[in-house]
Amino acid sequence: MCSIIGYIGDEPAAPVLVKGLKRMEYRGYDSVGVATFSGNQISIRKGVGKVMEVNNRVKLDTLSGTVGIGHTRWATHGGVTDINAHPHPSSSGNIAIVHNGIIENYVELKKELQEKEYTFKSETDSEVIANLLQYNFDQTKEIKKSVMQTVSKFKGNFAFVAVFENGTLAAARFHEPLIVGIRKDGYFVSSDVLGFIEYTDEVIYPDNRECLIINSSGIQMFDFDGNQVQHQITKISKELADTYKGDYAHFTLKEISEQPVTIMRAGENTKLELDLLTEFVKHAKNLYVTGSGTSYNAALVAKHLLSKYAKIKIEPIISSEVQFSSNYFDHQSILIALSQSGESADVLEAVNIAKKDGAKIISITNIMTSSLVHASSISVGLNCGPEIGVAATKSFTSQLAILYKITDKLCEGRIGLDFGKVSEVMKTIISDHSKIKEIAKKLKDISDIYVLGRGIHYPIALEASLKLKELIYIHAEGLPGGELKHGPLALMDSSVYVIIINPNDSTYVDTLSSAHEIKARGAKIIGISDKPNDVYDYWIEIPSINEALYPLIEIIPVQLLSYYAALEKNTDPDYPRNLAKSVTVK
Ligand code: G6P
Repeated sequence: MCSIIGYIGDEPAAPVLVKGLKRMEYRGYDSVGVATFSGNQISIRKGVGKVMEVNNRVKLDTLSGTVGIGHTRWATHGGVTDINAHPHPSSSGNIAIVHNGIIENYVELKKELQEKEYTFKSETDSEVIANLLQYNFDQTKEIKKSVMQTVSKFKGNFAFVAVFENGTLAAARFHEPLIVGIRKDGYFVSSDVLGFIEYTDEVIYPDNRECLIINSSGIQMFDFDGNQVQHQITKISKELADTYKGDYAHFTLKEISEQPVTIMRAGENTKLELDLLTEFVKHAKNLYVTGSGTSYNAALVAKHLLSKYAKIKIEPIISSEVQFSSNYFDHQSILIALSQSGESADVLEAVNIAKKDGAKIISITNIMTSSLVHASSISVGLNCGPEIGVAATKSFTSQLAILYKITDKLCEGRIGLDFGKVSEVMKTIISDHSKIKEIAKKLKDISDIYVLGRGIHYPIALEASLKLKELIYIHAEGLPGGELKHGPLALMDSSVYVIIINPNDSTYVDTLSSAHEIKARGAKIIGISDKPNDVYDYWIEIPSINEALYPLIEIIPVQLLSYYAALEKNTDPDYPRNLAKSVTVK
């Protein structure tokens, strides 16, 4: 998703901005650009491609000046072109902006501005911000007034930073993240603390509907009605700085390998909240759980866990579907929102709808300063450290770990939760993956793969197929074993691979029969199981563990398989094409 950053200080701005943009690369983007203010004018360089590619091409980091703004774009309005990349200047070139979000009424605004002879070069919605700011500034000659009048006209969600012709930065946020970093000799404004983490750990989190102006005399903050606001400076955890790959070739591999440790830490930073959450779940009349992508798959696991072990009914709903369903929530409802980033627009919208209907919101997230936390009554932390790889790995098992903790409390320990053992088993799978690497070579040239599981292993099959799609761009589908004969069997032939998730538990025998039915149609079978069987063309062995705990470990072989197959295919496992880590637009 788009990332924005602004800097004003003593250092040359361009190299600082480029470093920040590089750190925020994980959020996903297609183009990048920087604008700086120097010698009374604003200069812009930008283009399509990765931060370092574009930097090599157009030398973003050699722009002069100690004030500037930067952007990585994930196209929503207008194709992926150099012109559509941010920053966008106003038609006079006296203001430039970077924007994250969508200005829904940009067509009308653009028309009105064109009638007033402001010109546009790009196809984006964002350019309207630059020209509307310019128009309002031309009318009022005051930065504060021009920002307030501008934001009052917008429909949609936005966070933007603008650089004005006198070297002042102005920024505003409405339902998109914006964080201020404070240094002795300057300020940052960014979508993500990773944009400036190596320079400062002191931050301010502006609220929704707030603006700020920064110049050489300091920072002023006010709300959209013009009232001055003040916020405390918060120190962010040093751990957030832990965004280096270290000895790992990719973040994705690093994050997969961290899981034996991260599952142990899940929720440890919010123990009280975890207890409260458990109490709420116990007494809830109507219980719902929502999420997008991987987080939704975790929501499906929650349904199985709570019903099987705690006899509690919870309804999972895909976040983007909440708006199309009626009568879900009331005052007796609790909605648990799962989101690694806490910024997914679909999840935030689901939460808003539920809140309006009177539901209580409880969130489980990795980012304790996110918009989701602000919208929740209680928030439990995944506490797994920054997840940079776009395809979620460690955040998934941390979500599961928290769901297991809740269920274990509710069923008075019947699960037999033993994270020490889970961690050991995870380590074994991760350290002994030579076979997985071999199998990954086979997946390089195939176009269809199915992942089959029954019961609680079905959501894991869905998550496994999501990893395969994201990392190796093939058609991958999760199937509940019993449904095979109701359609998918027609697809089985010798060109197809099927991954069978088949731990030695109550689903084992039925899943094995599905494997035989598939084998009889000539498809190749990759079995993930603690028990060998001749039906598997390839057997990925997982250690045996307490029956309830298999879902926590069985995703790891598929994460590794997808990662190594991505290497075989020469795709970038950390930044899959067309995807973004944090999807902050609907
Ligand atoms: C995007 C990412 C997925 C992620 C989903 C939900 O689609 O590419 O990997 O699962 O968002 O993200 P969240 O931060 O809400 O868990």
